[in-house]
Amino acid sequence: MKDIKSTLLERRSIRRYEREDIPAESLDFIYEAIRNTPTSYNGQQFSVIDVDDQSVKEKIYELTGQKQVKTCRHFFLFCADYNKITEIAEAKSIELPGFPLTADGVIVGVVDATLAMMNALTAAEACGLGTCPIGYARTAAPDAIARLMKLPPKVFVVCGLAIGVPREMPDIKPKQPKELMIFKNRYREDSMLPDLMAYDKEITKYNATRSGTKTDNDWAEHIISYYREAMSYNTLDALRRRGFDVRF
Ligand SMILES: Cc1cc2nc3c(=O)[nH]c(=O)nc-3n(C[C@H](O)[C@H](O)[C@H](O)COP(=O)(O)O)c2cc1C
Repeated sequence: MKDIKSTLLERRSIRRYEREDIPAESLDFIYEAIRNTPTSYNGQQFSVIDVDDQSVKEKIYELTGQKQVKTCRHFFLFCADYNKITEIAEAKSIELPGFPLTADGVIVGVVDATLAMMNALTAAEACGLGTCPIGYARTAAPDAIARLMKLPPKVFVVCGLAIGVPREMPDIKPKQPKELMIFKNRYREDSMLPDLMAYDKEITKYNATRSGTKTDNDWAEHIISYYREAMSYNTLDALRRRGFDVRF
């Protein structure tokens, strides 16, 4: 098992995988890490679907266009889940308030599912495996993926996670310096623009010189182009079709 420092600081997203199986004890450790995720109220407002059937992974690949889904050994789908509490509330004749349909209810489900994903990712990385979160599992075809996964109402996909034995080891991406990310006691008050411009330059250089595929992408324009694309997903409508008619 890798130590915690290298597990966290040497992580990078892996997009090419060997076909090799994941050792049973590693998979078990990942499951246990998921189970011990801290969650709001201990409500555990999430579920995970471990997709290891190649034909199902290929269907998800066709829906998302993300090759990693096809080539990774396990593709996990992390879902916000109010189906389980609904079922037990009905059985125990407890009236369920409209909390899941509030903005905070949705955020709680998203946070719980995301923390579960991060626990799984860290456990997998500690076992020497490669990982890559896949947001397209939520955005690209939410209705088709919900049907394929037979999701009941009040459950929606938050994010996917590819896990497998790495076939590549790309350079680690430079991240924003501490001065742009971690503030002491209050939000930073002086202009961040010089640091932002320097970071933009650093990413541009990384993209142009990294091992593997090189690009002339900067940071700001490239990220904002993702925002433009993401605005076409109509995620609120997709959430409503999953039973989350968010009103408050
Ligand atoms: C919530 C989330 C969704 C992501 N979705 C995708 C995705 O759909 N496809 C992909 O190739 N990478 C995806 N990524 C990986 C990011 O592109 C990656 O984390 C980022 O570029 C930083 O690189 P690093 O992970 O190597 O440090 C996602 C990451 C996160 C946290």
